[in-house]
Amino acid sequence: MTDHAIPAARPENPRFSSGPCAKIPHYSLDMLSDAPLGRSHRAAVGKSKLAEAIELTRAVLGVPADYRIGIVPGSDTGAVEMAMWTLLGARPVEMLAWESFGEGWVTDAVKQLKLDATVRKADYGKIVDLAEVDFDKDVVFTWNGTTSGVRVPNGDAIPADRAGLTICDATSAAFAMDLPWDKLDVVTFSWQKVLGGEGAHGVLILSPRAVERLETYTPAWPLPKIFRMTKGGKLIEGIFKGETINTPSMLAVEDYLVALKWAQSLGGLTALIARADANAGAVRDFIADKDWIADLAEDPATASTTSVCLKFTDPAIKDGAAFAKAVAKRLEKEGVALDAGAYRDAPAGLRIWCGSTVETADVAALMPWVEWAYRAELAAQ
Ligand SMILES: Cc1ncc(COP(=O)(O)O)c(C=O)c1O
Repeated sequence: MTDHAIPAARPENPRFSSGPCAKIPHYSLDMLSDAPLGRSHRAAVGKSKLAEAIELTRAVLGVPADYRIGIVPGSDTGAVEMAMWTLLGARPVEMLAWESFGEGWVTDAVKQLKLDATVRKADYGKIVDLAEVDFDKDVVFTWNGTTSGVRVPNGDAIPADRAGLTICDATSAAFAMDLPWDKLDVVTFSWQKVLGGEGAHGVLILSPRAVERLETYTPAWPLPKIFRMTKGGKLIEGIFKGETINTPSMLAVEDYLVALKWAQSLGGLTALIARADANAGAVRDFIADKDWIADLAEDPATASTTSVCLKFTDPAIKDGAAFAKAVAKRLEKEGVALDAGAYRDAPAGLRIWCGSTVETADVAALMPWVEWAYRAELAAQ
């Protein structure tokens, strides 16, 4: 029985994908008209755009002056693997995983690099006990589990005087969550996530200790050109000034600059974080008194504010996976939520991207539709 009326309001922007994520509000391709298309990225105009992207990244994220910021190939995956392939192997490593991307980095360490690795995994909805981690080893982890909706709450568990390097995939955290730079030696992200930029390029941020490792350690395995950050035992500083290893898309760079300037116009990182917090709050306020839907994240302290993952908990649901897919399909068909189904390897449910480019009014308008779609599907099953 569907006694549930169609909600009166619709999200103005139904894009709730967890990557590529919604563009900045009021985005238009006209905003990219200053892109130096058809010019060399090594010409002054190209280099200055790349350098500006690096410096605005530093300004908005509050990256310390002595950390290097590089634009690298291969989106976030490229940045993470560049770090793993060039830095790991000098000492044992702890690999931490709480969802599918973190598990991908475990596979890299164990099966590809064949490292002496301690693997710690948590089920979807939880993170590992960080108090058990030995930070005198190198540690690779994901700040925000995009497919599981959980995140590291803060950097308190990471000792300031650690001997190992911390390598952090922060792609769905950067620009929406506080990152404790003094506790992180490598941070990676891609533009297509919280700022709604384009895929293709990754950002690799290195602490002075990570640079020291690069300059004093040579891995036992061969490195392809696109991973090489040193020459003759010295860091290639140009990479961190905008002299990219290979050719970037100047259109994607311009798009990133537009997003960074939008972020600055709002008030920078504090404002970006506040937007994601408000968005995730709108989801959680709605589900708080419902007995048919719940957060996949078990502990509010580690619940994500960007990729909010929900599960249906009504015992009347016959086939959980099919049900969740059908709800996501209804939302898509109504044009109220695009790409809001759970990730393919994650538990069945919905995943509502709440990053900083999403408007809180749109999240609030979506939630009654989630209830509508759930009731409609329950009646139809
Ligand atoms: C945590 C995490 N790591 C890595 C990736 C891969 O990112 P990219 O496609 O930008 O390489 C994603 C993409 O969703 C992600 O969520």
